Amino acid sequence: MHDHFEWMKSNDLTDNVFSLIGHDWMLVTSGTPEHYNTMTASWGGMGVLWNKNVCFVFVRPTRYTYEFMEKNDTFSLSFFTPEWKKALNVCGTKSGRDIDKAKETGLVAFAGQNKTTGFEQARLVIECKKLYFQDLNPENFLDKSIDAAMYALKDYHRMYVGEILTCAMAKDK
Ligand SMILES: Cc1cc2nc3c(=O)[nH]c(=O)nc-3n(C[C@H](O)[C@H](O)[C@H](O)COP(=O)(O)O)c2cc1C
Repeated sequence: MHDHFEWMKSNDLTDNVFSLIGHDWMLVTSGTPEHYNTMTASWGGMGVLWNKNVCFVFVRPTRYTYEFMEKNDTFSLSFFTPEWKKALNVCGTKSGRDIDKAKETGLVAFAGQNKTTGFEQARLVIECKKLYFQDLNPENFLDKSIDAAMYALKDYHRMYVGEILTCAMAKDK
């Protein structure tokens, strides 16, 4: 199982982060294959902080995934080839509170190396360890139009900084 992945360090990633996150989208997943939740995200980033390669993910507290992000020390980011966009749409419009997302989409969960859950069909799975969180503060918007446009419900994202631990790249994609 999942031996079609090659495990590598984040320095070996060659993808363009803007297309990876903004265009391809990702599944943010936290928990173990026995008990996890996953949701689609297309906002976030990757970079360098505190001498570590990190990712930044933004999760609204209303998401079921938020509960798992809070309870667990690690999480994963899974990226897919275009034929999985429909599945990502399901994971981004329905809640794990109401449906079994794996059953609905055909995605198959596997255990990563750091108590994370990835998906067999992913092209790339990145495992991360939570280092820091911060809730977006409405007072800090210098461009107030973003607050007005994105947070009518006042459900400000919690930003997590995650240290990138390992990356699993599918050999055949
Ligand atoms: C393309 C796309 C991108 C999304 N990006 C984010 C995001 O970055 N942060 C977030 O909190 N929700 C984002 N969402 C919304 C969640 O994926 C959505 O609310 C999902 O149903 C939450 O599922 P859950 O309740 O099972 O966690 C996005 C949805 C889509 C379709």
